Amino acid sequence: FKKITTQSLQIMKKQGEKISMLTCYDYSMAKLLDQSGVDVLLVGDSASNVMAGHETTLPITLEQMIYHAQCVVRGTDRALVIVDLPFGSYQSNSEIALSSAIRIMKETGAHAIKLEGGQEVIDSIKKIVKAGIPVMGHLGLTPQSIYQFGSYGVRAKEEEEANLLVEEAKMLEAAGCFGIVLEKIPADLAKKVSESLLIPSIGIGAGKHCDGQVLVMHDMLGINTEFKPRFLRRYLNLGELIPLAVKNYVADVKQQDFPNEEESY
Ligand code: KIV
Ligand code: NA
Repeated sequence: FKKITTQSLQIMKKQGEKISMLTCYDYSMAKLLDQSGVDVLLVGDSASNVMAGHETTLPITLEQMIYHAQCVVRGTDRALVIVDLPFGSYQSNSEIALSSAIRIMKETGAHAIKLEGGQEVIDSIKKIVKAGIPVMGHLGLTPQSIYQFGSYGVRAKEEEEANLLVEEAKMLEAAGCFGIVLEKIPADLAKKVSESLLIPSIGIGAGKHCDGQVLVMHDMLGINTEFKPRFLRRYLNLGELIPLAVKNYVADVKQQDFPNEEESY
């Protein structure tokens, strides 16, 4: 695929090729991730946590999401760019949901939006899809509802919540979603959902049977050394490497080793 589209993702699922997705919030990282061949860049509302330092995803605004999305789109050539609708920008009613989605598409040049929830967002999804905007769903541990859940623990371990999740996944597909993120649910349940859908599932903490995987970039690069849930695989230890580099720089400045002759005009 020269450029990834929502259609490419359907084809990948059909052909059994797993979809790779990472979150991204700025231009420079978008360039690096895109050049490294990641299929999908998600401008996640996790920017609220990893970029802005908030405890939850709730405080980030639509304007701030638009800013991050603009930066990511400028650095992206091949990947599909999906942007989260932040908390408060779609829950009130489907008109507000549509106008938030339109703002993202119009002002950022991103290719799709994502929103959290099941039956309560079906009307909004239908309206946004009708306007020609591709929508990705998000079920399981939906962080915008953290105060209702009370913890970031695994969701849908009990039969009732699991059955509801299966039903809601089908509703999201029927409403026109091109894919669904499944966050922190048992692997067997994610397998069942993925097999029951034609659209791809993208898992995070949802086992290997999903049609794709997503991680928060800062987590997989090891930038935040305290965050180490079981589902996270770390590919780099930037949380150690960056301080090492910075300590070296500070020492060089203090010792008047930097700048040297060659680094001067
Ligand atoms: O905001 C985010 O990072 C996400 C992913 C974890 C799916 O929604
Ligand atoms: Na999100």
